[in-house]
Amino acid sequence: MKHIIWSIGHNLELDNIIKAENCYLYDSKGNKYIDLEAGVWCTSVGHCNPRVNNAIQSQIDKISHSGFCYASPIIEETSIKILEIANLKEGRCEFICSGSEAVEYGMRVARTITNKPLSLTFADSYFGAYGEASKRDDDNWYIYNWLECSCNVEDMGCTGDCSEFQEIPFEKIGIFLFEPGSSSGLVRFPSHKLIDKIIERVKRDNGIVMINEITTGIGRTGRWFGFQHYNIEADIIAIGKGVGNGYPVSVAAISKNVAKLLKDKQFLYSQSHQNDPLGALIAKEVIDTISDEKLLEKSEKLGKFIVHRLNKIKDENSIIKEVRGRGLMIAIEFTTRAEYIRKELLHQGFILVKRSGVEVLRMDPALTIKEQDIELFLDSLERIIQNMGK
Ligand SMILES: Cc1ncc(COP(=O)(O)O)c(C=O)c1O
Repeated sequence: MKHIIWSIGHNLELDNIIKAENCYLYDSKGNKYIDLEAGVWCTSVGHCNPRVNNAIQSQIDKISHSGFCYASPIIEETSIKILEIANLKEGRCEFICSGSEAVEYGMRVARTITNKPLSLTFADSYFGAYGEASKRDDDNWYIYNWLECSCNVEDMGCTGDCSEFQEIPFEKIGIFLFEPGSSSGLVRFPSHKLIDKIIERVKRDNGIVMINEITTGIGRTGRWFGFQHYNIEADIIAIGKGVGNGYPVSVAAISKNVAKLLKDKQFLYSQSHQNDPLGALIAKEVIDTISDEKLLEKSEKLGKFIVHRLNKIKDENSIIKEVRGRGLMIAIEFTTRAEYIRKELLHQGFILVKRSGVEVLRMDPALTIKEQDIELFLDSLERIIQNMGK
């Protein structure tokens, strides 16, 4: 592959994948891999999900793309569904193309209606490849490091009981942009106490709470959205990745109140792929599949089982430092040699992710993964670790 540009920081591991089905990838030699990262968190209901693919095939012969001034009813139908699962009834959705775009769109909406200069977010959050949120410049952002403050005990993070929290200039903050869980892919979850305190302060002055659900949304954490583990009424939600099951569609959802405030402002945003019917139909099929197959319940239950088994392996093997998880978003932190373990797992047919510079492996499989494939993975991991000790 000499004519392809690869993203910096990601080595090409397999260059001959030719087929996929649910959690399996197949190469041209017939080797099978179990994909435990759902293709960068995206294939929420499995690669080439038959129900989603059938819907794509039937829609593509009707209409896949429309212009600014004419629309297909499917976008309204899917919007209603998304707003219902997001607790934003009577709000509005815009269908766009990527997680980065949904965050950017949401931030532009928020900036349009706030009159305060700063947005607050956490130091370890990730928001996308471009735009306002990825820049995080000092003129527009206050970045709070919730893992490095004086009330952080045993790496549990800030509870808001420290001088660093007191220094947050809430009087200048109009937006809180919260990523409820992934935190640079390391699967960390800020405490309820901290989030309650921030939300109370931001909302006291009519500030906006925007949630980045690009990785945590669409059932990943055992609920429809990661923010639903907290006591939060969201104003704006960015949804991506899993909502398209691998197809590039994302959603910016806004509350009724935000929609009302936006109406009187000059908000300009247009590109060629807004509210496309094909993307909206895919989002609807993904949501219906998760509902009909009770995949939220499965994500929660299977996630607990995996964390329990990993903790048992940890109890007998000191190379595992910590296991973190919520639903099927799980991180295994090692004391050392995470890259060696990742490579061994790949060699045995399991795909997991390791970020450079940290001893953490992450797994976020499709919600449709079979329990026996999880068992196979756990057995392999245990064997690899035991052999390292010999
Ligand atoms: C938490 C989070 N937000 C936003 C994005 C950006 O999404 P996309 O890559 O679809 O633009 C990502 C991508 O990994 C992400 O992990």
